[in-house]
Amino acid sequence: MDENELRQAVRAVAGERATVRLEGQRIGVVIDASGLEAPARDALEAAVRMAAARPGYDVRTVVTAERAQRRLIAVASGKGGVGKSTLSANLAIALARAGRRTGLVDADIYGPSQPRLMAVEGTRPEARDKVLLPVATPYGVPLLSMGQLVEPGRAIAWRGPMTAGALGQLIDANWGVADTLVVDLPPGTGDVQLTMVQKHRPAGAVIVSTPQDLALIDARRAIDLFQKAGVPIIGLVENMAGYACPHCGEVSDPFGRGGAEAAAREAGIAFLGRVPLDLSIRIASDAGEPPAARDDDRIFAPIAAQVAEWLEAN
Ligand SMILES: Nc1ncnc2c1ncn2[C@@H]1O[C@H](COP(=O)(O)OP(=O)(O)O)[C@@H](O)[C@H]1O
Ligand SMILES: [Mg+2]
Repeated sequence: MDENELRQAVRAVAGERATVRLEGQRIGVVIDASGLEAPARDALEAAVRMAAARPGYDVRTVVTAERAQRRLIAVASGKGGVGKSTLSANLAIALARAGRRTGLVDADIYGPSQPRLMAVEGTRPEARDKVLLPVATPYGVPLLSMGQLVEPGRAIAWRGPMTAGALGQLIDANWGVADTLVVDLPPGTGDVQLTMVQKHRPAGAVIVSTPQDLALIDARRAIDLFQKAGVPIIGLVENMAGYACPHCGEVSDPFGRGGAEAAAREAGIAFLGRVPLDLSIRIASDAGEPPAARDDDRIFAPIAAQVAEWLEAN
């Protein structure tokens, strides 16, 4: 067989995208499909197969693509109910409002809450070529949630590999121009967290804690998981820090003040700010109107600014 003629035939259909290698009776072609949508990629591969076909030879194609530069911010806590989902939603919205193209992944298989927080409950994502298309939300932040993949309550029985597969579908979805994904993790240090740090390599993690000691001990466990895996901690957010009186707005500190900040300092990580325990936050969240979407937000925007600054610097 004329190897030169083979290369020319392949180049005629694929240009510089194809690299041909001949090994015995096998023609191997590596196709670089970077930047191509699935239909164009499939068409290119089919054209290469036709162009490379020679009697008595076996054609093998491998399609590669440079992955889009997309950075993940994992939002984690040691235990549930500390406000991880509330912070994730508001952080994503505040980042988007600050001009960052941000998407939101709800990876909490046990209690997915983002569809409600982001006012798209009941909306199912579509898929194109088996790749999920995130759901648009009223807040300029596309969303994919475990809650959109499974029926409520079903995922609890999932085993590790199923969990990992579902997480992969959410993260490797068609996020379009979004270059930052905020990932709302389940509480604790289970399968989802392990898959996250090992396979998806977040750029950094934000840890959420409440002022109570127990939550701080739990938070340290979450911090440990990321640090051991070499994922940098962007910082700690203290949620339900002090009680905002619904009548006068004054913030008091039933659990004492500064515990989380001190714990962060002790652990050598940045303190990103505190969110008061404020009934209006819960009411707004339940209504699918995250406070960060409001022009008068003074709580989440500064936290998002610090996260954005960290992303620029790292
Ligand atoms: N700062 C806050 N003030 C008032 N309620 C809050 C605050 N943060 C969270 N909540 C409420 O507490 C509950 C648990 O918060 P959530 O974000 O779902 O926690 P997690 O995701 O860690 O389990 C929700 O009802 C939420 O609306
Ligand atoms: Mg949650």
